[in-house]
Amino acid sequence: MAKKYKIAFMPGDGIGNDVLEAAKIVMDEGTDFNAEFIHGDIGWVFWEKEKEALPDRTVEMMKETDAALFGAITSKPNVPGYRSPIVRLRQTFDLYSNMRPCKSYEGNPLNFRDDLDLVVFRENTEGLYSGFDFYDATEFMHLDAFKKKNYDPKKTTVSCRVFTEKGCRRIVKTGFEYAKKFNYPNVTLVHKANVIRATDGMFLAVAAEVAKDYPDIEVWKQNIDAMCMQLVKNPQNFGVIIATNMFGDIVSDLTAQLVGGLGFAASASTSDKYGLFEPTHGSAPKYAGQYKVNPIAAILSVKLMFDWLGEIELAKQVEDAIKINLKEGKVRTYDLGGSSSTLDVAKDLVKIMNR
Ligand code: NAI
Ligand code: MG
Repeated sequence: MAKKYKIAFMPGDGIGNDVLEAAKIVMDEGTDFNAEFIHGDIGWVFWEKEKEALPDRTVEMMKETDAALFGAITSKPNVPGYRSPIVRLRQTFDLYSNMRPCKSYEGNPLNFRDDLDLVVFRENTEGLYSGFDFYDATEFMHLDAFKKKNYDPKKTTVSCRVFTEKGCRRIVKTGFEYAKKFNYPNVTLVHKANVIRATDGMFLAVAAEVAKDYPDIEVWKQNIDAMCMQLVKNPQNFGVIIATNMFGDIVSDLTAQLVGGLGFAASASTSDKYGLFEPTHGSAPKYAGQYKVNPIAAILSVKLMFDWLGEIELAKQVEDAIKINLKEGKVRTYDLGGSSSTLDVAKDLVKIMNR
């Protein structure tokens, strides 16, 4: 008897519902995945109802589960009191690794090239997105560097880029372990150490130590700017890419577009203990409930969840079905030039899996 899992099921807002419904059909009808799915409230709807987009009951429920599947949420800028549920999830579950694979599947008309297979690991808890934002510079004015510049503290803002050795080590190790497990020949470390010396200097130094444990993997270093050029010029050369928070954010959107964009971009946010799996697209309100959008990003997120749970066979089943669907090219959503619905794609995958 296969292990029975508990999975938090959190569709969220808008098309998050459409694509997770499709993902559930694939899991239920196409695989033998043995799981209890527990619904979790999250999103703008709950902000409007309860003034909390991520109710505590959802977090408590998640703590009792093995992993979470998440759709998407709607958020709006400049709403006093609003807290991003995504940032809170990262912090609460210490989801330090954000992984986004980019593969060009045969037959995908949106492929930039047909020979791409790379994976971006982005550090998810530190760096410029730590929230150390200062709307004036008063607290910094005692520093010689600030004094020398003669700043007017009330007209100066500061955002701090904070790295820890621990934070650098765990993301680098996660990337190298993945490269080893899935036989990627090289790892590229993305940085700007010639300019941002303290933080990126430490990132590279820690990475050099970690790399010693992986003598068979070639290690490359690239400045973030040169990396963007290389990813357009020669993306086929890259395997695993490891980057700190903001650089990883940028690079992973670039790489996603090389293999079909938002309809294909899946992600795994993980700690050593917990994993949250989600398509990277948002709630696309204009398509909400219309079953028009591409569910493949969400279904590839299921594949990543299976991999992470150690259900390698199930992961392969899902990915193989997606490969066949794309190669056959008959059941496609609008972004791929087709007119099939979100659920048509799910049903086609199920049909393929049951052949
Ligand atoms: P979005 O990703 O929701 O949609 C942008 C456009 O991309 C859509 O209008 C659609 O044309 C296309 N698209 C997105 N997903 C697709 C799919 N699966 N298949 C085919 N086409 C797809 O981004 P947008 O419009 O900037 O944001 C809408 C809302 O989503 C906002 O409230 C935003 O804050 C939120 N958002 C949430 C995210 C999350 O939950 N992780 C991530 C990004 C945005
Ligand atoms: Mg982003």
